[in-house]
Formats: sequence, C-alpha cells, structure tokens
Amino acid sequence: MSFAVMELRKDFPSLSRTVSGYQAAYFDGPGGTQVPRQVIQAISHYYETCNANAHGPFVTSAETDQIVDRTREAAAALLGAPSPASISFGANMTSLAFALARALSRTIAPGDEVVITDLDHEANRGPWQTLAERGAIVHSVAITVDGRIDMEDFKSKLSPKTKIVAVGCSSNSLGTVNDLATIRELTHAIDALLIVDAVHFAPHFPIDVIELDCDFLLCSAYKFYGPHVGILYAREGLLDTLPTDKLRAQDDAAPYRIETGTPNFAALAGVTAAIEYIAAVGVGATLRQQLLTGMALVHDYEDALARKLYDGLSQMDHIQIFGQPFGDGLRAPTISFTVAGMNSGDVAAYLGERGLFVWGGHFYAMRIYEVYQLEEQGGLVRVGISLYNTEEEVDRLLEAVKALNETRTTTVS
Ligand SMILES: Cc1ncc(COP(=O)(O)O)c(C=O)c1O
Repeated sequence: MSFAVMELRKDFPSLSRTVSGYQAAYFDGPGGTQVPRQVIQAISHYYETCNANAHGPFVTSAETDQIVDRTREAAAALLGAPSPASISFGANMTSLAFALARALSRTIAPGDEVVITDLDHEANRGPWQTLAERGAIVHSVAITVDGRIDMEDFKSKLSPKTKIVAVGCSSNSLGTVNDLATIRELTHAIDALLIVDAVHFAPHFPIDVIELDCDFLLCSAYKFYGPHVGILYAREGLLDTLPTDKLRAQDDAAPYRIETGTPNFAALAGVTAAIEYIAAVGVGATLRQQLLTGMALVHDYEDALARKLYDGLSQMDHIQIFGQPFGDGLRAPTISFTVAGMNSGDVAAYLGERGLFVWGGHFYAMRIYEVYQLEEQGGLVRVGISLYNTEEEVDRLLEAVKALNETRTTTVS
C-alpha cells in the first residue's frame, strides 16, 4: 500500500492558504495539526442537526448520547483500550492531568515519592509537582546530552516509597521516544502507578495501552487532526475508586467520575471523525486494525521525510541539531535545532514570513530549555512532520534554512 499524500492533502482546506505569495507549509504539527474536512463537517453536522445536552428524553439528546458513546469507542480503538469505559474526556490534556493529580493527591501521604522527568512537557510535570503540597517528595530524572531519559538516574530515583511515575512516550521538543518497556518494568517492580503522556506520540505511532501496561495515559485530539479535546485512558478499576473532584449529581463510575460539567459534544463528534480519518488511511476488518495499519503507514511516510530533513540539516555548518539521532532507535518526526548567531524566535519568524510555519522557543518543555541553557538562544527551532507534509515542502524548508547562513553573516558582520 502506498501513501497517497496528494490525495490526502485535498481533504485539508487550510493547506491552500498562502502567505505573501508563498504556499503555506505547516511544520507546526507538534503544536497542533491541521484538520481535514471530514472533521470540520462532523462538528458542523452536530450543530446543524442534534445540538442538545445529554441524557434528555428527546431525540436530539439521545443522538448526543450516541455521539459521546461512539467517541469513547473510537478512542478505545485508537489506544487499544479493552473497553470504552476506560476512556474519559476533558478540555485538554493539561486539565485532565490536573484533575487526576488532584484526585491522586488525596491518596498520598507525607514522605511518599513521585518521579517525573526533565524531558517532559510541563503538563506532565506541573500537575504531579502539586503533590508536594501533600508532603510528597518529587524527583525529576535527568536527561542525557542526546535528549534521552538518563536511565541510571531514573533507577536511582525509584524507591519503595515511589507511588507515581509520570513519563512521556515521546518528547514534543526533541522527538525522543522513551524506552517505556524498561520504565514500566522498573515502575511495576516497586508497585508504583505509571502515568504516560502520549500527546506527542499519538499522531505518529500506533498505541496499545495493554502492551504499554500503563495505569493512566493521556493524549490530545488536536495533535492528531481533531479538535481540542483531552483524552484519558484509565486502567480498568482504577478510576472508580479515585477521590476525584465531582458533583454529587455526577455518575460515580468510570469513565464519568473525572468528567466535570458539560462536555464539548460537537468537538467529540470531531474526535470520532479524526480517528476514522486515520483509520481510512489503513485497511482491516475492524476499526482497530484499520488504525494500526493506518498509523503504521503514516509513521513510515513521516519517518522518511524527517530523515531527509535531518540529513539535510546535518550537512549545514551553521545548524546544531538537538536530541536523539535518526537510525538509533524509534524516534518521532520532530527535529529541533539552533542556528549559530541567530535567535530561534527570529528564525521561526523569518521562516514564517516565507510560509514555512515552525516554532521557536521552549514549547512548554521548559526543563530541556533550562538544562541545555537555551535561554540566550531563544530556545530551539522546532520542525514537525505531519501526514500532509511533502518532500517538496521539506526541500523548500532546507533551502530557506540554508539561506539563513547568508542572512546570519550579513546580520552578524
Ligand atoms: C508532550 C505534550 N504533553 C502535553 C501537552 C499539553 O496538551 P494540551 O494542550 O492538550 O493540554 C502538549 C502540548 O503541546 C504536549 O506536546
């Protein structure tokens, strides 16, 4: 099966945008991907046909209930979860992580320990750091020079008192993919809960929560071609007993126990459409099989483009690439670098003016920024490959980054 990128691109209306005569090239996927027409239509269709609150005695409300149920089923298929009851929704990943942290904090005793990492986005650090307010001791694991979790340091931070380990599957800043199998083994050996941030992983790789054997996993639909909705997987039986913030009228059981207030039903319809969109790239008899084959194709396509980008950047003397090299284990198609003598924010602005949308800064992965002392440089320039990017766009970006050498020499001299 080949990857029909030009066909898929027709589904994304925003790809036709131009900037000062330049065709827009969206390399900002790690910040949020573009959305296909199918998702936009699902959201509009909800408002046009069955906009209502849930659990009402009339047809539009019943249809709204069906939409929510269907989204849980689709998200369970995406994550390989055994049941839709293990899937909860929230405004975004950060809000869900804080809600989970508030609940878990009620199970924490002074002196309990929590392990987070320097590699992670603040959304997978800040919520668990709040457990210190209950007397927990929070340890942050160091990173290596090539942007990986320092596994020796990780081991040294675990103890019989460790109650929670929170790690990312993949770094949104450096593209690193962590060795979750080893992390899980070490975490389970001491009976701690494993909480996984899959926000940056989900758009690029198939996920199987059973194989990962994690207790909680979080991701965000706007990173995989959907609208802004956070998704939480909770291992069966865990959420039902958690002392979450909840109203008395609210259902006590999972998955509702952590879902406060009225959800964004239209967005949930869009989440299903996004998951079905990825599934339609693949083949198979079930939604899960389609998603696994679809994600594998997306991964292979993105990986080839990212390697081309990486190889091109590696040949430029004025570029320093950060993070895990290609060809050395699984890696996300996200490449971050600095340009000698130039502020990363200025580089991103320069490229943006030429229709090349990349980010410059810390992307909320602030420990990386601090550990690598990138403040003066304005952080990193981050280029993310998504399923709609093309080889021609990568060539354009490489040319523009190459041309920065002249701009830089002129500015510096
Ligand atoms: C790795 C990672 N984790 C967590 C988040 C936070 O997700 P949300 O915006 O859904 O709160 C992001 C957002 O960029 C991210 O990249």
